[in-house]
Amino acid sequence: MENYEIRVPGKVRFGAGCTETMGEEATKIGAKRALMVTDPGVFQTGITDPVKENLTKAGIKVDVFSEAEPEPTYSKLNATAKKLGKNKYDLVVAIGGGSSIDTAKGLSILFAHDGIGQDYGGTDKVPGPGVPLFACPTTAGTGSEVTNIAVFDDRERGFKEGIVSNYLLARIAFVDPTLTYGCPPKVTAASGMDALIHAVEGYTGNKATTFSDAMALEAMRLITGSLRRAVKNGADKEARNQMSEGALFGGMAFMNSGVTAVHALAFPLGSQFHVPHGMANAVLLPYVMECNLSANLSRFATVARMLGVATEGLSDQEAAEKGLEAAKSLSADVGIPTHLRELGVPKEALEGLASATMNVTRLLANNPKPLTLDDVRKIWENAW
Ligand SMILES: [Fe+2]
Repeated sequence: MENYEIRVPGKVRFGAGCTETMGEEATKIGAKRALMVTDPGVFQTGITDPVKENLTKAGIKVDVFSEAEPEPTYSKLNATAKKLGKNKYDLVVAIGGGSSIDTAKGLSILFAHDGIGQDYGGTDKVPGPGVPLFACPTTAGTGSEVTNIAVFDDRERGFKEGIVSNYLLARIAFVDPTLTYGCPPKVTAASGMDALIHAVEGYTGNKATTFSDAMALEAMRLITGSLRRAVKNGADKEARNQMSEGALFGGMAFMNSGVTAVHALAFPLGSQFHVPHGMANAVLLPYVMECNLSANLSRFATVARMLGVATEGLSDQEAAEKGLEAAKSLSADVGIPTHLRELGVPKEALEGLASATMNVTRLLANNPKPLTLDDVRKIWENAW
């Protein structure tokens, strides 16, 4: 067995109502002035109010930035950091989906260090800790609350890039399923599929470890058992709780073993056509999975079992193929489109998308099957 490290946030608090402990936790780290980061949609629902009140009651002054944008850009991040100013906040609290949490991660770094977001793009470019971050997801999806990466769209250079550094890990992740109860079905579906993909890619990627396996397998089991129910009936608390836990474990899995080609293809799709991250991944999953199956049949056979396939008596090949079918039917059942053309992607764009994918080398290197440009082209064509 190879040596490995386990990367996790400072602490994870999980469970309905766990955000009620935030004031107490903020006091423990000596916070006096916090910036809450959220997006307009989440802000309007009012779910940030009790969290703000909890912090205020603990004697912490809270400012709210409620303009986090979907698929955040470097330009907005830099402008926001400049406008809000350095040395003002000693705590950043993210409440939202992956976009709000990523924005908060970027701000936490820019509040503590000179320069602009682009200076820190890539791996281990951040020189030291940022302002402490508390991260509270309002979707069961991205796992951003437990990862060391924030993704920004570089519109000027035309690609998405990750700032990857352990200094981006939250001081505390508060995974409170009640924050997801109002999440609309379409977002529940796309973000839930994203969470499932973190688990599948974390389990089948080259960098999988015993720890990431444990997280990934349980994530697949939880998500398979609850995603359909959470989409069909958002008030199903048990399904919501399981989805939050599954997404948390999926996040911990890929935090430690990385994601693979589904995410590599989703990056240019998101950047060029502004397809939301979860949706981009969900549409691409079956096509990438189909290409990857033969590279690790035994692992994909286990994925099939976690997706609810009765695999007794089947060869790994047969089980893996049935797993692919199970992933497709889950996706269809929660309303994910089956082809890229349904998302408005023109056929002429495929060649550009294929060459842009080849630049996502960090993720492609973790793919169980080494992919050539021809392989990638074929996946895009099949998916279209
Ligand atoms: Fe993702």
